[in-house]
Amino acid sequence: MLKGVILAGGLGTRLYPLTKVTSKHLLPVGNEPMIFHSIKQLTTAGITDILIVTNPEYVGDFVNTLGSGKDFGCEFTYRVQEEAKGIAHALALAEGFARGGRAVVLLGDNIFETSIQHAVNDFHAQQHGARVLLKQVSNPERYGVATLNGNHIVAIEEKPKHPKSKYAVVGAYFYDASVFDIIRTVEPSARGEYEITAVNNAYIHRGELEYSLVHGKWVDAGTFDSLTEAHQILLNAADWS
Ligand code: G1P
Repeated sequence: MLKGVILAGGLGTRLYPLTKVTSKHLLPVGNEPMIFHSIKQLTTAGITDILIVTNPEYVGDFVNTLGSGKDFGCEFTYRVQEEAKGIAHALALAEGFARGGRAVVLLGDNIFETSIQHAVNDFHAQQHGARVLLKQVSNPERYGVATLNGNHIVAIEEKPKHPKSKYAVVGAYFYDASVFDIIRTVEPSARGEYEITAVNNAYIHRGELEYSLVHGKWVDAGTFDSLTEAHQILLNAADWS
């Protein structure tokens, strides 16, 4: 059974003073708190066992807002990331929850115009390894960027100054159980973080990283401009949830 992990940590400093009130992931986007979007992406794809990883400052707000999961037709587990040491570091906290199974990992500030169900289906059909979602963007230097050779990803660079393609690796990842062993081999990057890009490159070296493309618009809602864009996307999106 595929499980879901939503990473909702960080202090959201680029959205200050809104994040003086609460976590970025609980701010309004469309007509709901931002994290409802990630939750619905998972539940509509049939994933109802969901771990939410957040930081000590905001965990109370998450539990008050989301509760057990009963209102969403799912079951939440919460874990606290004590230090902001990157996405792979946050994901390591999911090892006990995953219990040796496969997981879909969503960054809670990534908003999609349409469902990612097709990628979930692709992952179900995949025998082993990992899968990422790619989207062509005009500003790839802000993201992890995939270099493609035919139908294969041959490398991913994190925020390259001179991107080799326009394919951003978006914040939706699919992993088999070996992800936790891989995370243990990752060294912190120049910015002092355990990068998810290092994890994905380890899968590339094993020849086990596949990809799907995002259908429709996608935004990483971490800044005021992108938060406004996320708001517009969800207000105009057809209701798929
Ligand atoms: C993170 C990842 C990056 C990815 C992005 C998607 O970047 O490191 O590879 O493209 O999320 O939202 P961050 O926004 O944490 O700097």
